Amino acid sequence: MKRLTETDAWAALVEHHQAIAATSLNQWFADDPQRFARMSLSAAGLVLDYSKNRLDTRALSLLTGLAVERGVETARDAMFGGRAINDTEQRAVLHTALRQRGGTRYDAGGVDVMPAVGEVRERMLAFAEAVRDGRWRGHGGDAIRDVVHIGIGGSDLGPCMACEALAGQGEERLRLHFVSNVDGAQLAGVLGRLDARRTLFVIASKTFTTIETMTNAASARAWLLANGARDDDIARHFVAVSTNAERVRSFGIDEANMFGFWDWVGGRYSMWSSVGLPIALAVGADGFRALLAGAERMDRHFLEAPLAANMPVLLALIGLWYRDFFGAASLCVVPYAQALARLPAYLQQLEMESNGKSVLHDGRPVDVGTCPVIWGEPGTNAQHSFFQLLHQGSDTIPVDFIMPLQVARELPGHQRLLLANCIAQSKALMVGKDEAEVRAELTAAGVAGDDLARLVPHKVFAGNRPSNTLVMPDLSPASLGALIALYEHKVFVQGVLWGVNSFDQWGVELGKQLASRIAGELDGDAGDAHDASTRGLIDLARAALDRSARRGER
Ligand code: F6P
Repeated sequence: MKRLTETDAWAALVEHHQAIAATSLNQWFADDPQRFARMSLSAAGLVLDYSKNRLDTRALSLLTGLAVERGVETARDAMFGGRAINDTEQRAVLHTALRQRGGTRYDAGGVDVMPAVGEVRERMLAFAEAVRDGRWRGHGGDAIRDVVHIGIGGSDLGPCMACEALAGQGEERLRLHFVSNVDGAQLAGVLGRLDARRTLFVIASKTFTTIETMTNAASARAWLLANGARDDDIARHFVAVSTNAERVRSFGIDEANMFGFWDWVGGRYSMWSSVGLPIALAVGADGFRALLAGAERMDRHFLEAPLAANMPVLLALIGLWYRDFFGAASLCVVPYAQALARLPAYLQQLEMESNGKSVLHDGRPVDVGTCPVIWGEPGTNAQHSFFQLLHQGSDTIPVDFIMPLQVARELPGHQRLLLANCIAQSKALMVGKDEAEVRAELTAAGVAGDDLARLVPHKVFAGNRPSNTLVMPDLSPASLGALIALYEHKVFVQGVLWGVNSFDQWGVELGKQLASRIAGELDGDAGDAHDASTRGLIDLARAALDRSARRGER
């Protein structure tokens, strides 16, 4: 396959980028009162305003041409068609099958996956309802009150983000706790507040070998047994979500209490599978189905809309435009909803684990920048921390503003302020404030002479800083499902454009291997096998562990 920079569209884009680099967003808006109408679009209940981007009609049409030339539509059909597009692991990528309701057949390796998908989903939802309405009881006969979800990465971030986003949707019957870090402080902090007789543990791990999850799960089991339960009671208090039945059994969890999924569901794409059990526990079976339906609407839009009016495709192309033509090394995501506080962390894994790659499918190195760093915090908090840099820092950082129009827990006047701030920030980034304006303002405030000259440059805002605004009607399961599916497809399209495999994650392996070796060495002799820095740090860590062992702390 051609490199991205060898395509016809690329050459035209390079030329056009130079031609429009000096044009300001202010100018484009002044020239075209219809710019918002032309450069915004609705899909699956969401509205994307992409008018505040440094693009004109020609740039958009060249970018769309690039998508055609890179075979985005063929690649999309290959993914939905169950082809093994994860070619380093020979796996299909079919998380979209998890949210399909119609009679469509989805094949992986020639087998229709839909009957198994339906069976596991219904069993998982029935279990969630039984826990929610108190039919599923702990070993002492009490209904479950607390659910501790143990998992990490894709087996944590999705359900954790979604449960927080959807909190307050209805009656909260259960208290959900998420434990991911192997730092014992997290698990101990949660368990210290709980009653073992009324606690259910969900152990989620695709592989059921991840050391953090297995260590936390073992400590949770020890806690349960130390708090009045016997081995036979484990079945009432532990369920597993995994693809690895054998490992689940050998951990001691009854297979009847296991909810499976499949190797064609990537960890970071798995919240639609039984990994979403905590979401079903939080919002019930109907809420979970609504989440899937919202995602399915976005899938259909992605499949059916022409590329030039296709929301995930546009987001992907705009992201590539900044990354590869403006050199933007990061993308800031700012949700204007506290309930979406975990969204940036979720998107970090989705985007950076998927497209944080530097080789093409055929193993040659890429010749352009791939995934930018994804980061962010909810507004308005972010305005009082890093927005200074967005407005006046030395780099231009594109922003995705996420703006739900309604939230579950409103207080009089708050939502109005939240929305006003979101709209104001995208405008401020774009319009800026020039020297003449600053000078006039300061003069009107009585500042003159040297003070005026000294202050003016500090108060100028260059403006022309781009953003997208994604408007959600509310924070319902359906809207959230659509939003997450939108970003999933954006990531997919960018992977196709860059020519990388978005569905493997070999980059996490080396650190894991070394950590397991060093964990052994912290108990014994590290020998001379390491460089001086690693050796020095091991010595410091070992000395601290020895001191705690002598004090009886481990
Ligand atoms: O270390 C990265 C990773 O493999 C992620 O891709 C995955 O989501 C996470 O670890 C957890 O893996 P598992 O679900 O197998 O415990």
